Amino acid sequence: MSAELLRTIPEIRSRLAEVRRSGCTVGFVPTMGALHAAHGALIRRAWEESDFVVVSVFVNPTQFDRGEDFDRYPRTLPADVEFCAALDVDIVFAPDAKEMYAEPHLTLVEVSSLSERLCGEFRPGHFRGVATVVAKLLNIVQPDSAYFGEKDAQQLAIVRKMVTDLNVPVTIVPVATVREPDGLAMSSRNRRLDAGERRIAPTLYRALQAAARRVASGATSPEEVRSAAMAVLGSEDAIRVEYLEIVNPERMQPVERIDGPVRIAAAVWIGATRLIDNVLCQPPA
Ligand code: PAJ
Repeated sequence: MSAELLRTIPEIRSRLAEVRRSGCTVGFVPTMGALHAAHGALIRRAWEESDFVVVSVFVNPTQFDRGEDFDRYPRTLPADVEFCAALDVDIVFAPDAKEMYAEPHLTLVEVSSLSERLCGEFRPGHFRGVATVVAKLLNIVQPDSAYFGEKDAQQLAIVRKMVTDLNVPVTIVPVATVREPDGLAMSSRNRRLDAGERRIAPTLYRALQAAARRVASGATSPEEVRSAAMAVLGSEDAIRVEYLEIVNPERMQPVERIDGPVRIAAAVWIGATRLIDNVLCQPPA
């Protein structure tokens, strides 16, 4: 099977109009390409619930806060199209920036409060770029369901709220974080790690697990839980912690006391690579 590669908005609109006329449901997986097994998990999930699957590959300039990160982001479209074809994806939509932002963009989608903490605090404007491009992509593709990974839990919460607030007729489906055998969450950025950095990268997940164990065994103080994670991260000099917070899973704001489900979320730097991860955890019943 080959996946159909479409580069323009009129092309994908007219192709999908036909698909919908034939009564097919459409599942949509938005990505920035450099596809890996975690993207594959989203695509497989889309197939479980849809008759027709669309993947977008667009490295969205408006969500990068540092030009350097945008320039260095891996671009592997031919391999991505093959990857999609192997998973029977029907359409790969890969517009260029001129196609997506043809006009000076005067409309921005800002999901306040949910965007304040965690990555939002350290990447100004990032989630405005994400919410804006996801709103555009959902309007272009008009899928029945769209699939997002829990690895980017704040992004998922923001997309869900945006869809609710703007009455976008789509079901947002969360997909659990896909990890390497040593626990490292899969990410397109992992390929930037050198061998030494790659070896210590799973420390991030180990630290989150140590914190989650404290929550599971009844710790109610966020500071105590945070210290458990920081102790693990502190064992590696090459890891610099950007943030590590214990937040309410819906509001994405720090909790003062752990008395319900919490998400422990962190961003760390290893050399020039920024990694994020999170775990959802429950206090004992
Ligand atoms: P990208 O980083 O390519 O990720 C595309 C989707 O794959 C996102 O929903 C992300 O959460 C999910 N994903 C990535 N790694 C994952 C993992 N290890 N486990 C589970 N899901 C994972 O996220 C983006 O692109 C962009 O911000 C986008 C939403 C496409 C808007 O530009």
